[in-house]
Amino acid sequence: MRVAVLASGRGSNLQALIDSSEMEGAPFKLSAVISDKKDSLALKRACKHGLKGYFLNPKDYCCREDFDSALAQLIKRKNIDLICLAGFMRILSSEFIACFSHSIINIHPSLLPSFPGLEAQKQALDYGVKYTGCTVHFVDEGVDTGPVIDQRVVPIYDNDTVESLSSRILKEEHVLYPRVVKGIARGLVEINGRKVIFHKGGS
Ligand code: GRF
Repeated sequence: MRVAVLASGRGSNLQALIDSSEMEGAPFKLSAVISDKKDSLALKRACKHGLKGYFLNPKDYCCREDFDSALAQLIKRKNIDLICLAGFMRILSSEFIACFSHSIINIHPSLLPSFPGLEAQKQALDYGVKYTGCTVHFVDEGVDTGPVIDQRVVPIYDNDTVESLSSRILKEEHVLYPRVVKGIARGLVEINGRKVIFHKGGS
């Protein structure tokens, strides 16, 4: 399975996917790393591992639709089967999402549907929940509203700060994301409307 990772920043989830793809018998290959930020650590990580990195400059396009259409062309040209968003800080147009329906997934640092959008870890702390976590979900037209594929739970401690909680969640993200991508590559993920069955027995 050919995977593209879209990332704007630090790229630690990208790194987890790179590491997983480099393991013997990995069922997927990272065929493109695409960023909207020229100097992103994500592109540097791709380069370090000999992966094809692409910078698409939003300033070169008059609107979101034009940017997304260039992105779609690149993804089609690379024969990508699965698009993984990993800290990609742009909202994708509905045309783009429709074009790659059920082939775009995202990782989010909360147990969706709680705390969608920005600063999910701060939202969880401010709300006072005792458990949060991370979610990998299919991307639909809403913000973090697509069908949930899998989640991992993280406890919140009384002395947690946004930083301490974020780093504990991030560790779980790095386990979850490669696991889901491998599951999809092995045909273990079945979609039935909003419900996703992840046949983990076979993973
Ligand atoms: C992660 O917390 C992810 O859940 C969210 O954006 C952050 C990206 O971090 N969507 P990184 O760039 O993968 O380190």
